[in-house]
Amino acid sequence: MTHPTHPTYPTAPAHLGLTHRPRRLRRSPGIRAMVRETRLSVDALVYPLFVCEGTGVRRAVESMPGVYQHSVDEVEREAELARGDGIRAVLLFGVPGTKDEGGSAAHDPEAPVQRAVRALKARLPDLVVVTDVCLCEYTSHGHCGILDAGEIDNDVTVERLVRVAESHAVAGADIVAPSDMMDGRVAAIRSALDEGGFSQVAIMSYAAKYWSAFYGPFRDAANSAPAFGDRRTHQMDPSNVDEAMREVALDIGEGADIVMVKPALPYLDVVARVKAEFGYPTAAYHVSGEYAMLKAAAQRGWVDEERAMLESLTAIRRAGADLVVTYYAREAARALKTGD
Ligand code: PBG
Repeated sequence: MTHPTHPTYPTAPAHLGLTHRPRRLRRSPGIRAMVRETRLSVDALVYPLFVCEGTGVRRAVESMPGVYQHSVDEVEREAELARGDGIRAVLLFGVPGTKDEGGSAAHDPEAPVQRAVRALKARLPDLVVVTDVCLCEYTSHGHCGILDAGEIDNDVTVERLVRVAESHAVAGADIVAPSDMMDGRVAAIRSALDEGGFSQVAIMSYAAKYWSAFYGPFRDAANSAPAFGDRRTHQMDPSNVDEAMREVALDIGEGADIVMVKPALPYLDVVARVKAEFGYPTAAYHVSGEYAMLKAAAQRGWVDEERAMLESLTAIRRAGADLVVTYYAREAARALKTGD
């Protein structure tokens, strides 16, 4: 069936004059802006930052040009510059000084993320501070949870994740973002936060997080590659989309305020379905590998980086994402100020 407003072509022989000339609305910057359906705004961007130990540290991540591990003082500076670019939200990841089997530094009030949250909320009170809640950066084996005979024990891990989320809330985080893909963690975190007096702290769940090759460079940035095995027993199979709907439904049912799909560009169909089926605030994570591919091609002069960046981020919004987590946040914010 044809949609009633969709014309059937051709409407008239060309020499009699075409009724429909879509090019009329592409003729000038003014007209194009008037009929533009998707707007990429700085308000939608979330800027990930890696926080490490020490002072004055700004260590470049080789596989992610333009991305650094920052000590707390440097993260303050970087966040202030980002705020100056108009960015409203940062997402913090920890690069701890010590790792152990149970990832205990993840809930240490003096660990880099907790210190950074306190420092950022004191210095930039209107900056939205989001924290990643996972154990993989903190465990000696690099897995996202507590192991039992080589397998991640879901329920023991959830108890740890709750402590991590609580420690972030105590430090002053506005939003906690569990990225571990354990079952039931959103409900457990929600009830612990509520009982602890943090009912105002929101949860952005990595609801449909796929087992993806595109996280490779992140593991350089966060020193979090698994020492053995992989993450296929908890992250989703890239082939599945109905399952993503069930994951999102569970997280919403458990109390997630924002649901995330990750990665972004290879999963735009998932983003579109999540937004259409749930109508919930939806985030998509343009991940490290997606960023690294553009950077690498741009460095060789094979793509126009600014255009490719804005096109990618706009496409993620067009698919239905309200929020886009991206290492390009500052570059995009600056490009949006000057572009038309
Ligand atoms: C932690 C986590 C990962 C990413 C975000 N949170 C790594 C992973 O799941 O292996 C990836 C982000 C990126 O690639 O930019 N579990």
